[in-house]
Order: sequence, then structure tokens, then C-alpha cells
Amino acid sequence: MQINDCKAARTGRARWVRVWDLPTRLFHWSLVLLVVLSIYTGNVGGLREMDLHKLSGYAILALVLFRLVWGVTGSPRSRFADFVRGPRAVLAAGSLLGKAHQGFAGHNPMGGWSVVAMLVSLLLQAVTGLFARDDILTAGPLVRYVSRRRAAR
Ligand code: HEM
Repeated sequence: MQINDCKAARTGRARWVRVWDLPTRLFHWSLVLLVVLSIYTGNVGGLREMDLHKLSGYAILALVLFRLVWGVTGSPRSRFADFVRGPRAVLAAGSLLGKAHQGFAGHNPMGGWSVVAMLVSLLLQAVTGLFARDDILTAGPLVRYVSRRRAAR
């Protein structure tokens, strides 16, 4: 939804609008913490850290799946239909070409696509983690479905 809050602010008629619902906020900040934890534990790589790594990976997977469902069933601003727009809307919003800023409650059209990119990336990272192994300490639960043969050089 587009709003004229800039004008409202100038004329002193600005008002607070609650945009994000509680589940979306909880999703957002849990994801921030868990992605930091996953990157840290994945890079440190000790036995305890990798146990934690798997747990945080599962939690990220659950959060992303939740967000996909919430993007269809959630409150109006959280729905994909509200912020995933076609290329024309992205260009019209000026977020690529630096045109005049327009106010949006929720994600603007460019931000909407960055949400999609982030969800897809996290889904890929977490799902491929299920099939990964470090050949020393840790393996994902689905590693048996991956061949151990090395690629020919
Ligand atoms: C979005 C979630 C995840 C992120 C951001 C993430 C990130 C990372 C990072 C940064 C590493 C270190 C890579 C390296 O040192 O080369 C790693 C390794 C690893 N991760 Fe994840 N991971 C995620 C999910 C998962 C999940 C769900 C599992 C399995 C349950 C998993 C299993 C592994 C394993 C087995 C390794 C070691 C692989 C190797 O050393 O080649 N990860 N991950």
C-alpha cells in the first residue's frame, strides 16, 4: 500500500501506523540471531558448535517455512501479495533509478524482491546443509542420499 506520509509529516498530520504483526517481528529478529549463530558455529566447527549449528539450521528452516505460510495466511502487510510486485511497479517506485521517494507501508517493490531473494537463499542454504558432511565430525541427517564418490579431475 502506498501512503502520503511525507506530506502528512510536513503538515504536522503524521500518525503512527502499525505495519508489522507480532509473528512477523518475532520471525525477523529470531532469524537475525539464528543466521549469526549459524555462520559463527559453521565457521568455528568444533563438536559442540556443530551440534548447535545443526539445531540453529533446523530452526532457520522452520522459520522460513513458517514465513512462507504466513506470507499467504498472515496479516495484510505480511502477505506476499502485498509486496511482491512486477517489474513495472519496481521501476515506478523509483527504488532502482533514484526517482522521487514514495512512502510505502510495508516493503516497497524493490524491498519485496529482496525478501524473496533472502528467503530462497536461506531455504537453499538450510536444505543443502541437510545433505552436507565435513568428513570429520558432522553430517546432516540426509547425507546418506549423497554419493561419496568424488568428482573426476
Ligand atoms: C541457513 C542455515 C545455515 C547456514 C547459514 C549455515 C552456514 C554454514 C557455514 C558458514 C558453514 C561453514 C562452511 C565452511 O567452513 O566451509 C557450514 C558448514 C556446515 N553446515 Fe551449515 N548452515 C546452515 C544450515 C545447516 C543445516 C540445516 C545443517 C544440517 C542439519 C548444516 C550442516 C552443516 C555441515 C555438516 C557443515 C560442514 C560442511 C563442511 O565443512 O564442508 N548446516 N554451514
